[in-house]
Amino acid sequence: MRKLAAGNWKMNGTTAHLTEIAALAATHRAAQVDILICPPATLLAQAAGLAQHSPLMIGAQDCHRSPSGAHTGDISAPMLADAGARAVILGHSERRADHGETSALVADKARAAHAAGLIAVICLGETLAEREGAQTLAVVTEQLRASLPATATAANTVIAYEPVWAIGTGLTPSTAQIAEVHGVLRALLTERLDAAEAAALRLLYGGSVKPANAAGIFAIADVDGALVGGASLTAQDFSPIIAALEAA
Ligand code: 13P
Repeated sequence: MRKLAAGNWKMNGTTAHLTEIAALAATHRAAQVDILICPPATLLAQAAGLAQHSPLMIGAQDCHRSPSGAHTGDISAPMLADAGARAVILGHSERRADHGETSALVADKARAAHAAGLIAVICLGETLAEREGAQTLAVVTEQLRASLPATATAANTVIAYEPVWAIGTGLTPSTAQIAEVHGVLRALLTERLDAAEAAALRLLYGGSVKPANAAGIFAIADVDGALVGGASLTAQDFSPIIAALEAA
């Protein structure tokens, strides 16, 4: 399995920031891992142009469940693919919280992404209250079962475990806590996929991954890469995270 360093720019970045993508593409021409940058939709086509002929993949941050139609302001998976996206982040906790996205909707969106030939990066994770209430494993189990569509394969799907309380806070779970959740997710995948597929589907950790803690996180069993927010916004911060994954 090729590990994956993924960056989620969230609602950050204008054309001035495309230089970061050009810098990453130039620096990591011979990358030993997959690299995915998900800028805002406004930059997708230009970013995809800059990433051409490099190992960098460009992805989006959301898509609609339908391929086209009367949905003002929404963007469909085939449109993202047409703009040069190879993947799409789905079910990020910010979308689950800000837009009321349910796991059933996330599964529909992932099905739409697969139909358009996109890799679905499906996010899940517990809130602080759920962690403190010892609900973490129950929550991620429910989210995985309900968010994963029947079309999922190791090639077209990535799961990102992102504890809500670790996103943008500088807090990270302990090694044991990450290992526990990733182990449970890996086991749950065998409910849907055969053993080889379940073993090959990439499980990312996300939440306050930085150059300083990346190597420690990548050493944890069943962590096949990271979904990085703030530290993916500059090549200066994201490059050492990519290098740490290559060395893991
Ligand atoms: P931070 O790396 O900024 O904590 O964000 C993580 C995240 O939400 C990535 O999707």
